[in-house]
Amino acid sequence: MYNFKNTVAQDLLSCLTKLSDGINLTKEEVMDMFEYPPDSSLGDIAFPCFKLSRILRKAPPVIAKEISEMFTSDVVSKAVAVNGYLNIFVSSEYLIKNVLLEIEQKGEKYGSDGSGNGKVAVFDYSSPNVAKPFHIGHLGTTVIGHSLKMLHQFQGYDCVGINYLGDWGTQFGKLIVAYNLWGSREAVEKGGVDELVSLYVKFHNEAEKDETLNQKARDEFTKLEHHDETNIMLWKWFVEIRLNEYQKTYKQLGIEFDSYKGESFYTDKMPAQVEKLRQSGLLKIDDGASIVDLSEYNMPPCLILKKDGSTLYPTRDIAAAVYRKNEYKFDKCVYVTSAGQSLHFAQWFKVVEMMGYDWHDQLVHVPYGTVSINGEKLATRTGNVILLKDLFATAIEKVSEIINEKNPDLPNKEEVSEAVGVGSVVFYYLYNNRIKDINFIMKDALSFEGNTGPYAQYTYARTCGILEKASNINAYETKPVITVNEETELLKVLSKFNEAVNSAIREYEPSIITRYIIDVCTAFNKFYHNCQIVTADSIEVRNTRIRLTDATKTVLGTAFGLICMKKTEKI
Ligand code: ARG
Repeated sequence: MYNFKNTVAQDLLSCLTKLSDGINLTKEEVMDMFEYPPDSSLGDIAFPCFKLSRILRKAPPVIAKEISEMFTSDVVSKAVAVNGYLNIFVSSEYLIKNVLLEIEQKGEKYGSDGSGNGKVAVFDYSSPNVAKPFHIGHLGTTVIGHSLKMLHQFQGYDCVGINYLGDWGTQFGKLIVAYNLWGSREAVEKGGVDELVSLYVKFHNEAEKDETLNQKARDEFTKLEHHDETNIMLWKWFVEIRLNEYQKTYKQLGIEFDSYKGESFYTDKMPAQVEKLRQSGLLKIDDGASIVDLSEYNMPPCLILKKDGSTLYPTRDIAAAVYRKNEYKFDKCVYVTSAGQSLHFAQWFKVVEMMGYDWHDQLVHVPYGTVSINGEKLATRTGNVILLKDLFATAIEKVSEIINEKNPDLPNKEEVSEAVGVGSVVFYYLYNNRIKDINFIMKDALSFEGNTGPYAQYTYARTCGILEKASNINAYETKPVITVNEETELLKVLSKFNEAVNSAIREYEPSIITRYIIDVCTAFNKFYHNCQIVTADSIEVRNTRIRLTDATKTVLGTAFGLICMKKTEKI
């Protein structure tokens, strides 16, 4: 619709100047004035005439009427005056030329306008803490982060996806203590991740009874920091086991990272930043610790060094940001974490500003709400968590049961179950506004009815099925014609893809794409139910409808990719 508005604004402007030379609006101003009528039967866009009333000294309905009589545009089928608005309808020719033919020509690039060309965007997401479980709470950062990366990439940004692993800190001291006390090489080799997580959980349970364990953990971590050989070896081993586990989940989601530089990478990059803080007089000593006072900005102080001189989470983030700016020369660096960390980001972003880094406003924090399962909140320490891999496994299993029952002869059953199962979880999650807290209900996520992933996948598979049936027809030998409203409506929805992409980027909100996918599916299914496609009487109509189906498939396929949902040709 963007191009449509652009052309209409141009044509409207020439009409308005004819009406009076007192009007000196720019095309952009006209475009900003456009509204979407509440119901598309009223018009595709509306131009309100209220503001013009003062300049023209006429009532808005009169102005609207006058414009409607003079206005002509190649892209408009009609323009009617209603209550001070000029309601404008897009023409079929426009929809064919600028939507259908454009989708056919651009293919998977349709919807992209290159607005990110030449710019670099860094995304810090997923970033689990290696000693802790990789649980459903990480779903948000993982899929929102990756969607944002894909959206930016689609618009031409050069993107860097960073998994800032939590691979350093006292958590490793805890794990090492637990391993030394209760673990064994054999058990870890056999149990892998599960064994590591249960050692971590056991540590916490035992530490509640025996306070000295925490000191022991700190001591082991200090040894690690001083490169104690055994501890370094254990640490590398633990990290490797976890990385292998994460990879499986990332693979299911189609996610690949460009960098796994985690917290440990920055240990030697912090002193320089601490020194810079000290030299600029920003560091204050408070009860032995070094802090940056942020009271002027109504925030608690940002902690830089503990009493014992050890560094903290914000210190590491500051060092990492400086490193990334130098390394990638980013135009923006986006951090996706739970809203619980919002203060942390606000604090250290401010410190970066106070340090005089002029790129501080290129740092973006994207927070998201909490997830509970059937109303139950998660607690990492007690082990009351749903692991991400288990959540996906359950979804895949359920989908596979449905397929075995409904379509037992389906080829690649396993692949399809994975795409649909994992996709259903992702779609359900990303359907909500990211900041909202979500209660995850698997049954709803897996439903083939309603606004779900399986419904969207099913619609995609439907387009593939129709195209397969039409595979021996050359739909391109006739000129496209539009004969019914369902076709127009479908093309209109397809025309809004670029706008959806841009809003999703502007608001860092992948749910705009999930919702857009549902709009496309709804329009397509209406078209499918009300119109004959391959069996249409006239060859022109049949060919157009096949091409519409193909265009829908293209846009849906691209949109799925933007929200980390794999597509499947058959269900
Ligand atoms: N590892 C952290 C956690 O699990 C998230 C890291 C987010 N990124 C960052 N640069 N602080 O809570």
